[in-house]
Amino acid sequence: MTTKILKSDSPDNITLCAKVIKNGGLVAIPTETVYGLGANALDEKAVASIFTVKGREPDNPLIVHVASMDDVNPLVAEIPDAFYTLAKKFWPGSLTLVMKKSDIVPDIVTAGLDTVAVRMPNHPAALSLINACNCPIAAPSANPSGRPSPTKAEHVLDDLDGKIPYILDGGDCVVGVESTVLDISGQTPQILRPGGVTYDELKAVLQDVTVFAQVEPTGASSPRSPGMKYRHYAPKAPMTAVLGEPEKTAGYIKSRLHGGSGSKAGALMFDDHAFEHPNVITYGLFDDYVSQANRLFDALRMFDSLEISEIFAQTPTDCGLGCTVANRIKKAAGDNLIQV
Ligand code: TXA
Ligand code: MG
Repeated sequence: MTTKILKSDSPDNITLCAKVIKNGGLVAIPTETVYGLGANALDEKAVASIFTVKGREPDNPLIVHVASMDDVNPLVAEIPDAFYTLAKKFWPGSLTLVMKKSDIVPDIVTAGLDTVAVRMPNHPAALSLINACNCPIAAPSANPSGRPSPTKAEHVLDDLDGKIPYILDGGDCVVGVESTVLDISGQTPQILRPGGVTYDELKAVLQDVTVFAQVEPTGASSPRSPGMKYRHYAPKAPMTAVLGEPEKTAGYIKSRLHGGSGSKAGALMFDDHAFEHPNVITYGLFDDYVSQANRLFDALRMFDSLEISEIFAQTPTDCGLGCTVANRIKKAAGDNLIQV
């Protein structure tokens, strides 16, 4: 199979991709967070092929994408009160809501859980495609399991060339990290995965919101948000998340890159704390979490083309979107952390 990149602003391309999805095929779709690998969420066989193409563990459920709040009704057994508050405020956008599922959602989508995760993405092409298919679209990030999520159509081509017929190219993802997964199926809303919508933004509209204890550190075997237990987002070389004041982390990294130990190290650094070195890749200013989120996965992928044996990553202070960026770096490092 050859994989073609199609511009997402052409109605003909949307029609073509909708046809593929209606016929049980897969299409990579742009969203504001990361590219997704989409299939008809109500077609068991089509969803099974997502797992095959990604090499995804069958215990890791998928997010179902909708184009309106009304699209949610058939997918859930009940709509919690918090749903309307949250969807009105954050949809379309980077917030995934976990609710009790209805019978029409195949078990393969939810990995056997009695809940389903639903999100309305904030990208015109994704919404047009869902409407053109007239079905909800199940879509995990369009990377083979374990790899950094794709934030450009070319990233998807690098990873899935020959495995899917079409990539809808909607440009670079503006958020750059995945959605926040919020479970509203119980008494108190609980963040299962930090993402594009921050804790503080949720706290501003909810009376109470908790963070699942095992969001960090990993190694958890809990099934609450099964995806969080795997090493994720990882470049090929092993990575160490370096935590601490930026001056100190920069000093530590400099000593490692110039240490003359013979091992070739690379570093992910803040623009305002980086130093000149061919293996240093920057991803935004120390206090610019929006830029860090936007550039993180592309930067992690760039390390794969360098001749390096390890990577040190300057990791932001856990705060706001910086918390999400830090979470992704720690996961990419497989919880290999150092505090300096
Ligand atoms: O931004 C995003 O969320 C992107 C775009 C494509 O929408 N999608 C994405 O999907 O990141 P994926 O499959 O890479 O991550 C989905 C996460 C996993 O951690 C999974 O375990 C969790 O959502 N999840 C899905 N359904 C769940 C459920 N019913 N209960 C708890 N966690 C769930
Ligand atoms: Mg993913």
